[in-house]
Amino acid sequence: MGIDVRHLSYTYNPGTPFETKAVDDVSFEIRDGEFVGIIGHTGSGKSTLIQHLNALIEPTSGSVLVDGEDINFSKNKTSLRRRIGLVFQYPEYQLFEETVLKDVSFGPKNIGKTEDECLSAARQALQLVGLSEDSWEKSPFELSGGQQRRAALAGVLAMQPEVLILDEPAAGLDPSGRKEILNIIRRIHSYGTTVVMVSHSMDDVARLCDRIIVMEKGKKVMDGTPAEVFSCVEELEAMGLKPPSAALLAKRLKQRGIDINDGIYTLADLADELKNRLGGIKKGA
Ligand SMILES: Nc1ncnc2c1ncn2[C@@H]1O[C@H](COP(=O)(O)OP(=O)(O)OP(=O)(O)O)[C@@H](O)[C@H]1O
Ligand SMILES: [Mg+2]
Repeated sequence: MGIDVRHLSYTYNPGTPFETKAVDDVSFEIRDGEFVGIIGHTGSGKSTLIQHLNALIEPTSGSVLVDGEDINFSKNKTSLRRRIGLVFQYPEYQLFEETVLKDVSFGPKNIGKTEDECLSAARQALQLVGLSEDSWEKSPFELSGGQQRRAALAGVLAMQPEVLILDEPAAGLDPSGRKEILNIIRRIHSYGTTVVMVSHSMDDVARLCDRIIVMEKGKKVMDGTPAEVFSCVEELEAMGLKPPSAALLAKRLKQRGIDINDGIYTLADLADELKNRLGGIKKGA
């Protein structure tokens, strides 16, 4: 399913002294099967923007079209929302049921699925996030932080969304928890789900996404492949963003006169590039 964001703007508390234009005339399209990263300095409007993608908030102006239909005027708003799953920042705060299995079954139950369908969707989702059966009857509050995050993600996956939108999915987790959740998201994408992920980590975005949107002060200021976006090292730094270490290192080496191809932003590619360059230099030359 395609999502088409057209001239979207959103203002909090309009007409009051607290008025804030959080999203300012943003347009882009999300195509089937993409893995899009959204980056930007704190307060740049990332969370506000993505909450429009499943009609959680209505734009002040502009529109969000899903398969050509304006999501905010659609008669099928509930069904469109189900097809676009949104995982909030710190989603584990919303776990509430007595058991993990009940929590994950909540969404399907809420839209009138049978008991069997709910259980089967929940089991499948729990397996997808790697929560083993011995945790399914536990209270969600007995789980570790990383497990709770995965249980909350399973709750959204149980609705079998075609598009998965995640706000800082790895925030606040320890390194192994981060790695686990990002691997799960990568796997979900590889099974065909379109993914939109907000992240503060340029390295995570560089590793996972095939397209990156950069937000600054409510505006979309860049939209391109990781190679395109991360070649703009100075522009990113001026926005207070730290490009991936490999992109920075490539830039510094270039400044010192080493001829390195443009568009390198992963350590593996940089290592290959250096090997090729240095391989061409004869010993003692
Ligand atoms: N509920 C709210 N009421 C009023 N203003 C808000 C609200 N939520 C966000 N804002 C303001 O809107 C702007 C954009 O905020 P938003 O949370 O969308 O940014 P963000 O890019 O997600 O930031 P972060 O990286 O810190 O999560 C900021 O100026 C913020 O202070
Ligand atoms: Mg945010």
